[in-house]
Amino acid sequence: MTADLLRTRNNAILRDMTPYLVALPNHWKLLDRSPFGLTISQENTIDPTLTSSERFLLLLQTLDRLTFGPEGMPMPRWVFYDCAEIPGAVFGFAQRAENLPKSVREAIGLEAGETGLVPFSTYIAIPIRPPHVWFGHNLSSLNPTFPAMNLKGLASITKALGLKVFRCVTQIGATQWDSDALHIHTRFGPLQLVTAWTPAHSEAATLTYRLDVTDDKLRHAYGDMDAPIHYPDADFEIAADDWEAMRDLQARIEAGEQFAVVGSPRRHEKGRRIPVARI
Ligand SMILES: CC(C)(COP(=O)(O)OP(=O)(O)OC[C@H]1O[C@@H](n2cnc3c(N)ncnc32)[C@H](O)[C@@H]1OP(=O)(O)O)[C@@H](O)C(=O)NCCC(=O)NCCS
Repeated sequence: MTADLLRTRNNAILRDMTPYLVALPNHWKLLDRSPFGLTISQENTIDPTLTSSERFLLLLQTLDRLTFGPEGMPMPRWVFYDCAEIPGAVFGFAQRAENLPKSVREAIGLEAGETGLVPFSTYIAIPIRPPHVWFGHNLSSLNPTFPAMNLKGLASITKALGLKVFRCVTQIGATQWDSDALHIHTRFGPLQLVTAWTPAHSEAATLTYRLDVTDDKLRHAYGDMDAPIHYPDADFEIAADDWEAMRDLQARIEAGEQFAVVGSPRRHEKGRRIPVARI
């Protein structure tokens, strides 16, 4: 692995962890397996159709449960297979089981003496207009679960390198207005709103966004301070619990106006406020 070229917000992740990719072999050649010079080894490139991949794929589901579980949207295993591993790709960082502290091994549910790769983060995306338009299906990181492990920045670095691996030019995503993940997605630049209120989703207070991906945005998001990006000034803010404001914004979008989220959520005495600009 060559990590010397990357200056991320936490290079300990590149030093201590190893990148992995899950995708069908037919898709390997379509993907960038050396994003920004960080090589994904053949050993860490996982074919989901092989029985030998079973343990790693099960641990991906454990990661999903440990991160999303408390928020109520863990994925059934068939969703991983049908909607992610086969049509799309999964990128992330892993550690070797044998190098993990006992408390972490136990929290993840590793077997005694178990060795092998253990995923600590995932960015899953599905191509929706191949080859360059992808839907960001899931982002997760064990940083908040294991704060003593010095994994700060793991999700941001994972998403930035994942978009590079997928050769993504346009990313579509859906996230809740009150999600912590908005702090990460907004690091990639302005997010053009496709929906502000989304009754088709199981959480209607979901926004759907479009991100035009550039290398500078990816570098900025993973922490390279030489890659600044420009955000327009906000015209107003949406409170993360203000459903009426979301419905009003949705009505304006459906009437043809265009808006973007132009910065990270701001802490406010009455909750979070998300800056929005008319574009
Ligand atoms: C959300 C999640 C991916 C974050 O992972 P992570 O590795 O801690 O993320 P990063 O360290 O890259 O970045 C998090 C940033 O958000 C900020 N942040 C997160 N929650 C915050 C909050 N409630 N208030 C203010 N800032 C917050 C952090 O301070 C950090 O910013 P900083 O580096 O400037 O301090 C992780 O908690 C997770 O897996 N959650 C469950 C799954 C989920 O919600 N996925 C998103 C699907 S769209």
